[in-house]
Amino acid sequence: MCLYIVPDLSCRLLVVRLLSWSRPTLAQPPRFKHDYQTIRNVLETEQQLFFKHHTQSERAKMAPKALIFLALFSLLAIVSVADTDSDSGLVLNFYKDSCPQAEDIIREQVGLLYKRHKNTAFSWLRNIFHDCAVESCDASLLLDSTRRVLSEKETDRSFGLRNFRYLETIKEALERECPGVVSCADILVLSGRDGIVALGGPYIPLKTGRRDGRRSRADILEQYLPDHNESMTVVLERFKSIGIDTPGVVALLGSHSVGRTHCVKLVHRLYPAVDPALDPGHVEHMLHKCPDAIPDPKAVQYVRNDRGTPMKLDNNYYRNILDNKGLLIVDHQLANDKRTKPYVKKMAKSQDYFFKHFGRAITILTENNPLTGTKGEIRKQCNVANKHH
Ligand code: HEM
Ligand SMILES: *[C@@H]1O[C@H](CO)[C@@H](O)[C@H](O)[C@H]1NC(C)=O
Repeated sequence: MCLYIVPDLSCRLLVVRLLSWSRPTLAQPPRFKHDYQTIRNVLETEQQLFFKHHTQSERAKMAPKALIFLALFSLLAIVSVADTDSDSGLVLNFYKDSCPQAEDIIREQVGLLYKRHKNTAFSWLRNIFHDCAVESCDASLLLDSTRRVLSEKETDRSFGLRNFRYLETIKEALERECPGVVSCADILVLSGRDGIVALGGPYIPLKTGRRDGRRSRADILEQYLPDHNESMTVVLERFKSIGIDTPGVVALLGSHSVGRTHCVKLVHRLYPAVDPALDPGHVEHMLHKCPDAIPDPKAVQYVRNDRGTPMKLDNNYYRNILDNKGLLIVDHQLANDKRTKPYVKKMAKSQDYFFKHFGRAITILTENNPLTGTKGEIRKQCNVANKHH
């Protein structure tokens, strides 16, 4: 790089020095060995030429240049790191000046709500998927229907989403402290992060600075959110398009280690005939919980996703699906598709391995195409877009 910036031998000399210093500690993979050697040879020849053609005093005069270059080089290194860091426009602790207590307030509210209603944590986690996987983490999920536009919350894919009024509780606590500063999109993501911790999952440091969208995406939602009976090929493709790889998908579906599934999403595996892939003992339990082929829409009938540890985000989900106790067809396929099964087995064995990929995948999901800078707005209330005067 310095060859372009400082077309001077002293600079190249520095590179030679750096290369020779680092050589003993650098185990060069064989593929790069050749190139590395070539560069060294070229540079070493120049070093010899340099010493031949410059007197002692000339070399001394060039020393400060090398120092300047070193400073420049480190500066560039810092700039380029910062550059890749802000790819999404998001940063860690975005509110550190504008609302320093923001993240603490969210954590406190999530904790208080969790004490009263444990299932709020399930909702905060599921919200991340339903908001961020549909084009952008912009809290479009939270918008109510208007006279003209259907909300995302009211579509079939959103069936069972709950606790939205408690998200307003968190928003109100933030508005009291710093009015008009913290976006609903960041609240949605950070409550998800803190919900994961409440459920016994890992703490995932997440960036902030998202702004709120003004439009419901109900009309295109089905292109992004897979259905309960989607093929693994489609599921993997959809996640891949937002940068989440196969182990990432396997880890995200581990979210089905908590919460519930309503009978309407299950009855086709029980009626008119029982899906032979299901564990017989589990079928008995499911039939007990879902006694009608067409569930009464007014009765809240559901099966817990993980009967063993229903309130814990843990790797029990993977043992369940390997035992044919997965509730949804996608859960069952995750344990049986040859692309995903190896990861399911690994996550069933190691909670650490599950958490590692879970944290990575949640980070990618929550950085999906956010609105930043001057795009979007900071909603006053999470369920309605601001009025424009
Ligand atoms: C192929 C992808 C997925 C499909 C088809 C799917 C489908 C479903 C369905 C049908 C339910 C039951 C809803 C109900 O009846 O109340 C559910 C529950 C849930 N899902 Fe997923 N899901 C997927 C991925 C995810 C991801 C990526 C997350 C989190 C990041 C997630 C988190 C949850 C949670 C926490 C629940 C329990 C909610 C509650 O009890 O309130 N899901 N999912
Ligand atoms: C998936 O289930 C829905 C009902 O929830 C049904 O309408 C649809 O045809 C099913 N799709 C497949 C591929 O079986």
